[in-house]
Amino acid sequence: MRNFDYYNPVKILFGKGKIAEIAKWIPKGMKVMMTYGGGSIKKNGVYEQVMDALQGFDIVEFGGIEPNPKYETLMRAVELAKQENVGFLLAVGGGSVIDGTKFIAAATCFEGNEPWDIVAKGARVNAALPLGAVLTLPATGSEMNSGGVITRQSTLEKLAFNSRHVFPKFSVLDPEVTYSLPARQVANGVVDSFIHVVEQYLTYPVNAKVQDAFSEGLMRVIHEEGVKVLDNPNDYDIRANLMWAATNALNVWIGQGVPQDWSSHRMGYALTAQFGLDHAQTLAILLPGVMTYMFKEKQVKLARMGEVVFGITDGTEEERARKAIVACEDFFRRMGLKTRLGECGIAEKDLDALAAPVDKQGWKLGEHHNIDSRVARGIMALRL
Ligand code: NZQ
Ligand code: ZN
Repeated sequence: MRNFDYYNPVKILFGKGKIAEIAKWIPKGMKVMMTYGGGSIKKNGVYEQVMDALQGFDIVEFGGIEPNPKYETLMRAVELAKQENVGFLLAVGGGSVIDGTKFIAAATCFEGNEPWDIVAKGARVNAALPLGAVLTLPATGSEMNSGGVITRQSTLEKLAFNSRHVFPKFSVLDPEVTYSLPARQVANGVVDSFIHVVEQYLTYPVNAKVQDAFSEGLMRVIHEEGVKVLDNPNDYDIRANLMWAATNALNVWIGQGVPQDWSSHRMGYALTAQFGLDHAQTLAILLPGVMTYMFKEKQVKLARMGEVVFGITDGTEEERARKAIVACEDFFRRMGLKTRLGECGIAEKDLDALAAPVDKQGWKLGEHHNIDSRVARGIMALRL
């Protein structure tokens, strides 16, 4: 196991009815900017629950944060936050709203001229407005981590940033608010959270038994409950287990002291920015490609994952590892996601542009830092 420093200050308020408690955790007298997405919270009762809980607070609303939140939209929120002298941000929504709100928090206090530099150049974030979150879509782990992913419409770029200043002060996880999710978003959440574990687990062994055991447990739970949830959308226990698993999949706890991959995620950004694919959809296509291209490097843990998560016990290590790739792809398809670029209208002629951001950002991806744009293109070519 490698050395690590782990810090996670996010207070979690988990369970039915917990939205009612948020006022306790927002400093009195602060003007609150409530941020949300395209309006789902106005149809499923979440908006009313939040408004009831915030009685007595001066509230400014900023709605319309889109999936894969756009810099252009978020900068309008930054203007509003400055104009209204907002002291606290409350994100009510999925990963996009929470990520977008983290960016608003950082950009409002940013000292440089161009807040896009926070994502494009890793410009230092020295301060941010405090924020809280009411999570409505279990998937990204944004509710308990310090990262965010932002898209710039004008250049079709999608990039991530990270700062300890944007950890939420608290996050509410009420599984009941997930009942209203469309099946496509439920499936996205299952696949995204599963692949978050894979990105931190499926590398090479470093004898990190705690991290491996937690990761294997999370993958098993997400797989078991994930295949049940679409047929049982109002089952509280299934929703609760998936919600807590998704948070644990990316509060970066399981990634401490171990090599990590993240190449499917980084390569996937371009599929969203250039072709509009849902984040999880990009991963369901690319991950089997990474597993196949990097087979030798990942074989030991692939075989172990196949056994623990999918019950694959027959054959040599290599055979079990190959079967684990097939089992993963089957799982994603069973959840209703596509697993080939061609199914999403993407062809060979598109691959150069899709691999180009790897060069532009100077990325050397994967746990061995051996995925440059040429290799990225090769991985994508396996998924046509
Ligand atoms: O906008 P509204 O109307 O709220 O509708 C949303 C949106 O259309 C809807 N939705 C959310 N909760 C709902 C609901 N509909 C009905 N009932 C509910 N309870 O779902 C749609 C998708 O929402 P979105 O927030 O975009 O989904 P998700 O949570 O999957 O977030 C995806 C974004 O997070 C980033 C992705 O790249 C993408 O931009 N990620 C963030 C990460 C992080 N911060 O650590 C890591 C992830 O790997 C990921 O990259
Ligand atoms: Zn993800």
